[in-house]
Amino acid sequence: MRKYKQLLLANKAWSVELLDEAPDFFARQVGGQKPDFLWIGCSDSRVSPEQMTMTPPGGMFIHRNIANLVNADDLNLMSVLQYAVAVLEVKHVIVCGHHGCGGIKAAMDGGTEGPVDRWLGNARAVHQAHAAEIAGAGDQDQRINRFVEVNVRDQLVRLARTSVVQARFAADEPLALHGWVYDLRDGLIKPLLEIDSTTRLDDIGAPDRVLV
Ligand code: CO
Repeated sequence: MRKYKQLLLANKAWSVELLDEAPDFFARQVGGQKPDFLWIGCSDSRVSPEQMTMTPPGGMFIHRNIANLVNADDLNLMSVLQYAVAVLEVKHVIVCGHHGCGGIKAAMDGGTEGPVDRWLGNARAVHQAHAAEIAGAGDQDQRINRFVEVNVRDQLVRLARTSVVQARFAADEPLALHGWVYDLRDGLIKPLLEIDSTTRLDDIGAPDRVLV
């Protein structure tokens, strides 16, 4: 069987199973969405946010890109952020990197070209800003994994500095930003840091440049 047909068959089975469990499931979905979470993660096929957190449809607004980068001039991410935070009023924004990230490895080792190479400029800047910390982490895998963690930290700070998040913090609305790393080896998520309206961003380790 052609592989893509498997997707459509699986979809039918999924729909039947959900209706079996909750006959009004799709009727409720049509009514609208009110997710508590915005997830910003890597596009890597092994890192599946809803599956690894057992989140049902409607629970999570999602944006994914290579190496989970936050750029103020990325209209795609910034509109997702604006809609999730200002309109849907999510309570939590999660930036989740993952160990063994190919995008992060490429930002460190090079060998990319075209759009991917341009995209990774943000990650290369993170590497440059924390070169000593990353170099001191150990062997190559350990260096990549430290870079993954440092990258999550810097991207979360970039997120905290956006005008959308700053406005929400200033209005004292409930909003927390979470930096996480997913470990491919055991399927577990390690929380790294959390930012809310009381956090002093300068204490975390400022990114190389302010992007807002
Ligand atoms: Co990745």
